[in-house]
Amino acid sequence: MTTTAHAPHHPTAAFGIDIGGSGIKGAPVDLRTGAFSSDRVRIPTPQPSTPRAVAATVAELVDSFDLPHDLPVGVTFPAVIQHGVARSAANVDDSWIGTDVAAVVAQATGRHVLAVNDADAAGYAETLYGAARGVAGVVLVVTLGTGIGSCLVVDGVLVPNTELGHLQVDGHDAESRAADSARERDALSWERWAERLQTYFRVVEDLFWPDLIVVGGGVSKKHEKFLPLLDLRTPIVPAELRNAAGIVGAAALAARGTVLD
Ligand code: BGC
Repeated sequence: MTTTAHAPHHPTAAFGIDIGGSGIKGAPVDLRTGAFSSDRVRIPTPQPSTPRAVAATVAELVDSFDLPHDLPVGVTFPAVIQHGVARSAANVDDSWIGTDVAAVVAQATGRHVLAVNDADAAGYAETLYGAARGVAGVVLVVTLGTGIGSCLVVDGVLVPNTELGHLQVDGHDAESRAADSARERDALSWERWAERLQTYFRVVEDLFWPDLIVVGGGVSKKHEKFLPLLDLRTPIVPAELRNAAGIVGAAALAARGTVLD
């Protein structure tokens, strides 16, 4: 018997939603280009940000668009997401732990939903459409924000939930010292913050030996203030998709139908 291998056929459009601590943002994405196919909508994250309240806001956001019923929907969440279920809650309401994020949002929206860690979504988008596009080997995308998120992609394959923001560095949870929120909290100059980043990224490159590090998160738009101060063996570049990355990555993974290959 002969068989013919076909590349899996994925939809060319999907809807991405980025659930963050202050805002829930969504847009339809053209997956041929990685661009939004209409303007992004943002709704403030309800407080307290319980699963029920957040899911209702996601439904409101999705309903503000006129979308085909079968359009795949992807949501990011800032926690470990294992097979759709939140397993940690470093910077979100503790009530999320154990919540099937994909199922809760699917129920609220009446749609098929895929849930993914926020940094995994953003990093994956960078490998498809941004700073790590076409890069072979081991790519590590690190997002610097309220926390530190990480995304490991090996020859285009995502290894989810690496959680490198929680490496122990000098006896501290790394993100508590080196996240952008730590820079703000401690009123650090760029130079002082870069010293902390230097310590952090040196540990990361010694453990993972990536071919490329991409730095994302809101502060990456000011990359010229701190990336040139770092002395690493690994090439380190700013993310390109900026705050679209989470939405685009969530949409791309939703179209594939899985976070795992
Ligand atoms: C969480 C990660 C998340 C990162 C960025 C960390 O505190 O543990 O899951 O990706 O923050 O939001």
